[in-house]
Amino acid sequence: MTLDFQGRVAIVTGAGGGLGRQHALALAARGAKVLVNDLGGAVDGSGGAATAAQAVVDEIRAAGGEALANGASVTDFAAVQAMVQQAVDAWGRVDVLVNNAGILRDKSFAKMDMADFALVVQVHLMGAAHCCKAVWPHMQAQNYGRIVMTTSSTGLYGNFGQANYGAAKLAQVGLMQTLAIEGAKYGIHVNALAPTAATRMTEGLFPQEVFDALQPEAVVPAMLVLAHESAPTRAILCAGAGTFEAAHITLTQGIHLGIGADVPEQLAARLAEATDRTGEQVPQSGSAQGTNEVGKALAARR
Ligand SMILES: NC(=O)c1ccc[n+]([C@@H]2O[C@H](COP(=O)([O-])OP(=O)(O)OC[C@H]3O[C@@H](n4cnc5c(N)ncnc54)[C@H](O)[C@@H]3O)[C@@H](O)[C@H]2O)c1
Repeated sequence: MTLDFQGRVAIVTGAGGGLGRQHALALAARGAKVLVNDLGGAVDGSGGAATAAQAVVDEIRAAGGEALANGASVTDFAAVQAMVQQAVDAWGRVDVLVNNAGILRDKSFAKMDMADFALVVQVHLMGAAHCCKAVWPHMQAQNYGRIVMTTSSTGLYGNFGQANYGAAKLAQVGLMQTLAIEGAKYGIHVNALAPTAATRMTEGLFPQEVFDALQPEAVVPAMLVLAHESAPTRAILCAGAGTFEAAHITLTQGIHLGIGADVPEQLAARLAEATDRTGEQVPQSGSAQGTNEVGKALAARR
């Protein structure tokens, strides 16, 4: 099977460099018309220049592809709506949205300024929400859409100095879970990508040998799989250095203790059983938790 994007229209945010640039180049090389968005600022989100997106558009065009540049900040909903309209005006539809734009404002939580927390949430979570909201009516109307969130191992598992970033990145997984459910009947699939790549964002974090192994190109296949017609939905796909994994949010079988004065003590004594992973499930929606709990309560009464 060839992962073909002929006739598809894709928007990639933060595509002026790093992973986003690779995503845009790959989608265009496989036939998609690509709107290349980038604010063109620094890693901490300061500044901005339209030249970053334009340079990638020039690269795509030089290779024979079709692309448009856009310099909107994903934090600005009106500008994001105009960006989506730009793609629709030029190409009539939007099939793929890759929410890739991002910044860092790292500090230990004790030293973190709340303004830096809010800005990181604004770019990663609200930026993704703005873009999803702007493409949603188009995807609903055409009964087709593929949305790729960019989450992070920091969001999934934590990392020192990245409380703001981790919270914002896992929030994108939360957004994915419900949008995938709401989008299902419109043929909209929503997935999340957790990349590891050598970019300006991770410069200085890894020793040179590790940095060299983590080419951003090595992440692109996971994005293409999640953005393609054949994509799954509600998957969290991890990718780096040519290795591909999945992350799952699971629910254990748990134990039923009922209601009573000594339940706190019982739970403390049997916590290992409540958290035992034997037979855990990956719920298809949030209702699975209540179903499990009430099911066990009713079974205990019988
Ligand atoms: N590099 C990694 O190992 C890694 C790991 C996990 C997640 N990520 C995520 O991958 C994505 C790409 O990161 P990268 O490593 O390529 O870093 P990068 O800094 O090269 O790319 C981020 C891009 O987003 C753009 N951007 C920032 N704020 C924007 C805004 N408000 N509006 C529009 N564009 C904006 C930047 O100008 C930049 O080009 C980010 O969401 C990042 O959090 C990266």
